[in-house]
Amino acid sequence: MSHTDLASFLRQHQINGQPAPSELISLIEEVAATCVTISGLVAGGALTGVLGSRGVENVQGEVQKELDVLSNDLLLNNLEASPQLSAMASEEMEEIYPAKTRGPYLLLFDPLDGSSNIDINVSIGTIFSVLKAPGGAPDTQAFLQAGKHQVAAGYTVYGPQTMLVLTLGAGVFGFTLNPADGLWVLTAETMQIPADTQEFAINMSNMRHWAPPVRAYIDDCLAGKDGPRGKDFNMRWIAAMVADVHRIMCRGGVFMYPWDKREPDKAGKLRLMYEANPMSFLVEQAGGKSIAASAGRMLDVTPTGLHQRVPVILGSRNEVEKIESYGV
Ligand code: F6P
Repeated sequence: MSHTDLASFLRQHQINGQPAPSELISLIEEVAATCVTISGLVAGGALTGVLGSRGVENVQGEVQKELDVLSNDLLLNNLEASPQLSAMASEEMEEIYPAKTRGPYLLLFDPLDGSSNIDINVSIGTIFSVLKAPGGAPDTQAFLQAGKHQVAAGYTVYGPQTMLVLTLGAGVFGFTLNPADGLWVLTAETMQIPADTQEFAINMSNMRHWAPPVRAYIDDCLAGKDGPRGKDFNMRWIAAMVADVHRIMCRGGVFMYPWDKREPDKAGKLRLMYEANPMSFLVEQAGGKSIAASAGRMLDVTPTGLHQRVPVILGSRNEVEKIESYGV
């Protein structure tokens, strides 16, 4: 087994033949250290009093869970004095949160993804994205950069093991948390998503609300080897994007959260800046593909708002291209 921990990995890691910037290394280490603390809270469950809801709604109109708030506060408190940061933005806060200094980076996060899984002891995670701060006093506009400008992105999944999956734009690397010493140990090098798959992830209960091309694609998958695809498909849905994307990182598949008729004025359910963009950066770095449906490559989408929603289709490259061929 590898004994390379996150700190040694980051110091050896090369991006286009250059060492990773020391400020970026420090920032990743600070985020990862906070995720160790969140992992401890998650693992304690009812014993640490983190289950249940706060009874208030976040900016998305979703009722905040206790752990959503605690994780958000931990990230803010641990990182606000980071000399690497200029400001932060989170799913749980309407406005941006200026850091104490004017460091070189901006950090966006979904502190606890998959909230509906918290109280039932099913996998959840933290997603983060790092952008360069354009300089000057940080404002919302500074964050509205297309995903292709991210300098790092990652997620942690709090599952049977706690894992950190990370890219600095030169491949994707997975680390497993050793709970005995709190170290992240490199356990998956240059993760690659297989180009082909026979597995899709979508919330099938929304089928009657989908647009016709989504329905046509899923109908053809369900028809199995007697249908136009000529092969049987499997389905998985964990209801935490982190966990569904992690499975795709490990064995391939496609994840879809398309626009649907339930809320026709919203482009989709998932958020561009701290869900779709970081996941798309990781997926592309692992050889996969990610699109905002007919709007094309996710990482090229020009953001218009911090909490903007997008349709998301990502995963095994050839299957995402197949979905595109339906006119999704
Ligand atoms: O952030 C939203 C989220 O929890 C994702 O992690 C997940 O993929 C999705 O919502 C699940 O949505 P639904 O409950 O509609 O299946």
